[in-house]
Amino acid sequence: MTDLTAPLGPLAYFLDLHPSLGDFRADALEGLALEQKAISPMYFYDEHGSKIFDRITTLEDYYPTRTEKSIFLGNAAEITAAIGAKTAIFEYGSGSSEKIQWLINGLVDPVAYVAMDISKEHLVENASNQARMQKIPVAAVCANFHTPIDLPQNILPNPDRWLGYFPGSTLGNMEPETAIAFLNRASDTLGPNAKFLLGIDQEKDPKILNTAYNDREGMSAAFNLNLLTRMKRELDAVVTIDDFEHYAFYDEKFCRIEMHLRAVRPTEIVISDQKFAFKKDETLHTEFSYKYSIDRLESLVESTPWRLEKNWTDEKGWFATCLLSNN
Ligand code: TRP
Repeated sequence: MTDLTAPLGPLAYFLDLHPSLGDFRADALEGLALEQKAISPMYFYDEHGSKIFDRITTLEDYYPTRTEKSIFLGNAAEITAAIGAKTAIFEYGSGSSEKIQWLINGLVDPVAYVAMDISKEHLVENASNQARMQKIPVAAVCANFHTPIDLPQNILPNPDRWLGYFPGSTLGNMEPETAIAFLNRASDTLGPNAKFLLGIDQEKDPKILNTAYNDREGMSAAFNLNLLTRMKRELDAVVTIDDFEHYAFYDEKFCRIEMHLRAVRPTEIVISDQKFAFKKDETLHTEFSYKYSIDRLESLVESTPWRLEKNWTDEKGWFATCLLSNN
């Protein structure tokens, strides 16, 4: 079932699947009642949180963003050749559409660009800007990528194939079984003979990882603690923010960074008259960030319709841009 699709301003179409933005109060109450208290990382990204995250991506200690960019700049000709001509691009979580510039100019006869994001206002604004800048038709889909997405047919020129574009390392923020479900749905959305360009943060010396998530400028801490500020402001939560500290560490067994907010003394969070007590050192879990070797990514991909066709890494092997194919 697809919603009404209509041209909008400079956009070839705007498809609104009305994604649920979550119910912060219900999710906080449910997560705080768990044995391991937890809250979904989607609540990191309010306006303030998004700004802090943008700053994180520019920090010396946080290597992923600049490393990924260097891979694109250093391998542009090879990457675009491997993708091939007459491709239509579907970008998952397009955000400010910054990363489409790394790719689009080098492609041979690209056919269309479709930006997808959960946040409607930013999506329409950024995709419209792209539509004014690009020589090819640009469309937008407002959706949550954890749900099925059916693309409208016969509006854009027919491509030889679709390319899913998912830079960053958001796949690593999903539990492996969620990542598999996501890749399965992406294959359904993009159809047969599709390709998928995926950013992956690789396993590396835990010291580098621990520093990236405990940066010296305190931005990681500010980003994580912003969740408590949001609870206070949006949910009238009673919480003493100073009773908590940012706690992030690399777990070598699971090859993942774990992010938590840890109580430095016994304390409590009260929301809607419900009290949640924290012992000293008890944590509220906020996010995982899984790191993959190429081999482990390959075996994850094996349980989906995709196979790993090619990959590019930086000279230190810290990050990887992977090209998958489902034919
Ligand atoms: N998705 C980002 C990542 O996995 C989120 C992130 C970066 C983050 N730094 C953080 C989350 C610090 C909490 C604290 O890299």
